[in-house]
Amino acid sequence: MNSEEFVQEMLEPIHAFCRTLDAQPPAYSYIPLKSDEERIRVMKSRLFNELRAADLFGTWLKTTPELDVKATMAESAHEEMTHAQLLSKRIQELGHDPFDYKPLPAQIAMFNAMEGLLDTCERIAGLSLAGETVANYLIQMCLKSPAVPEWIKQPYRRITEDEEGHGSIPQQFLKRYAVTPERQDRVRRAVAMRMVLFPEYLASLDRWAMGKAAW
Ligand SMILES: [Fe+2]
Ligand SMILES: [Fe+2]
Repeated sequence: MNSEEFVQEMLEPIHAFCRTLDAQPPAYSYIPLKSDEERIRVMKSRLFNELRAADLFGTWLKTTPELDVKATMAESAHEEMTHAQLLSKRIQELGHDPFDYKPLPAQIAMFNAMEGLLDTCERIAGLSLAGETVANYLIQMCLKSPAVPEWIKQPYRRITEDEEGHGSIPQQFLKRYAVTPERQDRVRRAVAMRMVLFPEYLASLDRWAMGKAAW
């Protein structure tokens, strides 16, 4: 399969999942939330994601031989830290402690699973292609929704500038490097894994943020 077709095939289930979120926006998008207490819970959970993403990009530098990917990962590690700073500042301004958050079990599982990915292409596929595509889709939903207060939209407008700026980079890297059957198989599995784990995290964030369950 040529690499263009391959990447399009990988994007299909990701885009299909995004479309399912339209009808019922998750807590992650802030749209269904009714109180600032709920909104702060989601922001703390998403702050954890920014920090964990920065950790992963940084951790992977040493084991990424492809120089262009390595350079992008280094930039991404810095960007994710900037996002973490924006969110932690906003949480503090609202009078809360950004760092008293205990990550949800499904959230820990999702990041630990990604940390176990060893090949450049499967890392890009799991963290960036599958994860950031869904995350960016939900940020756009959030920014467009009149149900989300301005104090939440502010930091995300800054975050989305970064994320949109490099939206197609994971696709370019996969077209360049996922060119053997072995690598394509790893990518396919990494996308499938993330598409199992991400909805599980979103569902537990729904339950916890809206006060219906411990996680
Ligand atoms: Fe981010
Ligand atoms: Fe990101």
